[in-house]
Amino acid sequence: TLTVDAGHTTTAVGPYQFGHIIEDINHSMEGGLNANVVRNSTMKEGNANPPSSWSLITGGGGSGGIAADTAGPLNAANQRALRLTVGTNGAGQRVGAANSGFYGIGVRPSTTYQVAFWARATAGFTGPLTVTIESTGGTVHATSSVSGLGTGWQKFTTTLTTGAGAPVSSANRFVVAANGVGAGQQVWLNVVQAIGPTFQPTGNLRRDLQQLMTDTNPGFFRVPGGNYLEGAVIANRFAWKNTIGPVEQRPGHQNDAWGYWSTDQFGLLNYLQMAEQAGAEPMLGVFAGYTLNGSVTPQNEMQQYVDEALDEIEYVTGGTGTTWGARRAADGHPAPFPLRYVEIGNEDWFDGTDSYNAYRYPMLYDAIKARYPQLQIIATRAVTSRPMDVIDDHYYNNDPDAFAALATRYDGADRNGPKVLVGEYGVTNGTSSNPTGTLSGALAEAAFMTGMVRNADLVIGGAYAPALTSVDNWQWSSNLIGFNAVSSFGSPSYYVQKMFGTGVGDHVVPTTLSGGTGLTQVATRTTGGAVYVTVVNRSASTVDTQVNVTGAASVGGTATVTTLTGDPNGRNSITSPTAIVPTTTTRGAGASFTHNFPANSVTVIQLSTT
Ligand code: AHR
Repeated sequence: TLTVDAGHTTTAVGPYQFGHIIEDINHSMEGGLNANVVRNSTMKEGNANPPSSWSLITGGGGSGGIAADTAGPLNAANQRALRLTVGTNGAGQRVGAANSGFYGIGVRPSTTYQVAFWARATAGFTGPLTVTIESTGGTVHATSSVSGLGTGWQKFTTTLTTGAGAPVSSANRFVVAANGVGAGQQVWLNVVQAIGPTFQPTGNLRRDLQQLMTDTNPGFFRVPGGNYLEGAVIANRFAWKNTIGPVEQRPGHQNDAWGYWSTDQFGLLNYLQMAEQAGAEPMLGVFAGYTLNGSVTPQNEMQQYVDEALDEIEYVTGGTGTTWGARRAADGHPAPFPLRYVEIGNEDWFDGTDSYNAYRYPMLYDAIKARYPQLQIIATRAVTSRPMDVIDDHYYNNDPDAFAALATRYDGADRNGPKVLVGEYGVTNGTSSNPTGTLSGALAEAAFMTGMVRNADLVIGGAYAPALTSVDNWQWSSNLIGFNAVSSFGSPSYYVQKMFGTGVGDHVVPTTLSGGTGLTQVATRTTGGAVYVTVVNRSASTVDTQVNVTGAASVGGTATVTTLTGDPNGRNSITSPTAIVPTTTTRGAGASFTHNFPANSVTVIQLSTT
């Protein structure tokens, strides 16, 4: 018997209860959410010559070559261009540079790409340059051209639109070609972009991925989170000032946390816009002087990172009359972003010294509180030197049973200490061929989440991690959303996040369960009287349950029931994206009814009460 005391509430459920951590891992940004489909657009990746992801393409007997070239650079930030040298290239012949994208280039019918690149040419080049997206076999899906190249660098823009009959495919390439221009010419290219469909006109957020994130109704985005904030060495931390402003002025950096080049075309403003466009608030992570190789910034060198963090907070929240607020406005976003939480560092328990407690946290804490007393500070490990408003707990386990045991982790926990953010969690049971987890893992996470909500007075929020993964190249075994160049899918864990995020009230109501059923549950209600009863059944049997709703003047005769169930070892994939997805039905309800919670399921019953 499950009793839901709808007439009483225990604790409020805050606006941050469910959120996302976002970092560039598994090509989440570079080749993922960043909608530029051109890889190695600034020719720096791996310092390869010719630039990696680029190849010479010829046709009709044309000939030529491509190479990396540092002579006559675009600017100080981007000094390596692609040089296309045209050999034989008469009428009907083709010589160009092809980019293979991020494991292909996604094509769909009637789809437009905003193309931009910088180019210059040898004197007398008459052009034009032909720009195409075409299959790897050469079938052209979209074509356009630009003209007017001179000997100095200029920015060129055009659009490419695929035909109505273009196939849904990723085996495509992006080509810039000098067709039939005559022999002996040279063309240089740099900062090449082809921006595919975006969620909103601003932000460059790949439409399908941002849609999936938004559909979970998140309250916060922890940005930029994880190891990506730190980098393996100081030079490769998330140096936010290098990630704002015109993309051609961004030097990029080696993402040595996860092993690939980042152009930083997805910069701080994009992270903030991700939160904004999802209807959420950013939770800002600031670099705190510790990197993944174990190097600790000495105390007498820390001030520069304190200043960097203060400037960053000003960029996020400052009015346009402030130095960095004005920069944000110049970057296209005059309105300040809301900000309530700032996290100092990431997983600083890996620092074997006491530096976080001794001076790194205190220096940042004191400076931030002095200038922004309204901000809540999140510590990444316990400190005694200063107060902790919030502490960030992380939980990963590849065993669903062990993970589900965390469901009671915060029941009875100390209420006199800091609040808790569960900044990262997840069951890590992905495979070598599928970087997303099983339904069984998702149900264990759901069980844990019932505990987070029951303890919402202590746990301000939680984020499954990581959020995004390329299915063609990943560094973390289990992720929420998988994608390739053209498609994406949510894992069972994704649907658990969505069910919790869209099926929760603003206060917890007490529940009791009798009968030794093995269910895990939480109930919440809105001020309008909607009651959400969330029940996780991790067992292999249906559990027939008497649901009694007490304390309400009336309980509506119909309930909406959303259920996620299936093979506990099942998972979703690019080729089978909906193997395990929730279904929504209605059923009869009232103050007392029987519900059969299916084996291996999570169920949200939405009741109406007065
Ligand atoms: O989420 C993947 C990684 O796990 C994060 O980058 C890091 O904070 C944690 O160790």
